[in-house]
Amino acid sequence: MENEQIIKLLNQDIQDEHGAIIQYLTHAYSMGEGEMSCEIEAFAREEMRHLDWLAETIVELGGQPSLKRGTMNMSGKTPPEWMADDVKLEQGAIDNYTEHIKLVDDPKIKRLLKRILADEQAHHGKFEHFVEKAKREGQKDVRGDRKDSVTKTLNWGIEHEYTVVLQYLFHSYMTGNEEAKKQLEDQAINEMQHLGWLAEEVVDGGGSPKIEHTSPDQSTRTTDMLKADIKIEKEVAEAYDKAAKEVDDAGLKELLIRIRDNEKYHIEVFNDLLEDEEGDEGLGEIVNIPDSGG
Ligand SMILES: [Fe+2]
Ligand SMILES: [Fe+2]
Ligand SMILES: [Fe+2]
Repeated sequence: MENEQIIKLLNQDIQDEHGAIIQYLTHAYSMGEGEMSCEIEAFAREEMRHLDWLAETIVELGGQPSLKRGTMNMSGKTPPEWMADDVKLEQGAIDNYTEHIKLVDDPKIKRLLKRILADEQAHHGKFEHFVEKAKREGQKDVRGDRKDSVTKTLNWGIEHEYTVVLQYLFHSYMTGNEEAKKQLEDQAINEMQHLGWLAEEVVDGGGSPKIEHTSPDQSTRTTDMLKADIKIEKEVAEAYDKAAKEVDDAGLKELLIRIRDNEKYHIEVFNDLLEDEEGDEGLGEIVNIPDSGG
């Protein structure tokens, strides 16, 4: 199988992992705090690792990881129905990985897909068990229909966080700068935390989290990436600052300030990386200038 075809196949898998992550997070947040939602969030984190492995493989093959989200099934109305939808999603993943393992010849990629398949089989069994568990425990949809300005602000935050998670992950996969790669991945994880905090806050406040994103920057040159990342961080640090001043609830104010300060930290990290990167780029031009002795 040609690299191009493998990349296409793995990008289908990435899109499906992406869909699974959002479907599971939505279900976990909608159930409220508890053992089951914790376990479902842990599955979502495993899907994130799959996405990560697949993306790294695609880049090694010379491709670009897709940021498109695969089909989700959000039609269920109650937690037992959600769990049944998640069983179906896992069955789809099992079928696709089984098929892709047959199609790919490269032993390393085959091994990776088998590794992922084993996780999906475990998830499938767990979700089957969760259908009954959700019934037995009388799990309810804890979301409300509050639509005031606070809920709107929090949902704006979720949309931003989701967008930058995709943006920083994409940048981390595409950059050739090892330090930038590490930092972008770290900050993406931090943005995922923000997303979780905000979604839980929406639910606690009687609202319904909207897990959607806008278009992430997909620059492939490190300086362009970092400039885009700094730009978006500056905008949101300001927006979080404004939101924190506007809300009355002390706990929420504290949360927004905490996120704002994280974003300020991101700006500094990205600024340092940009300076280093521009220094490296500039080196080519100044390398022949004799040392003036300073
Ligand atoms: Fe899974
Ligand atoms: Fe954030
Ligand atoms: Fe940030």
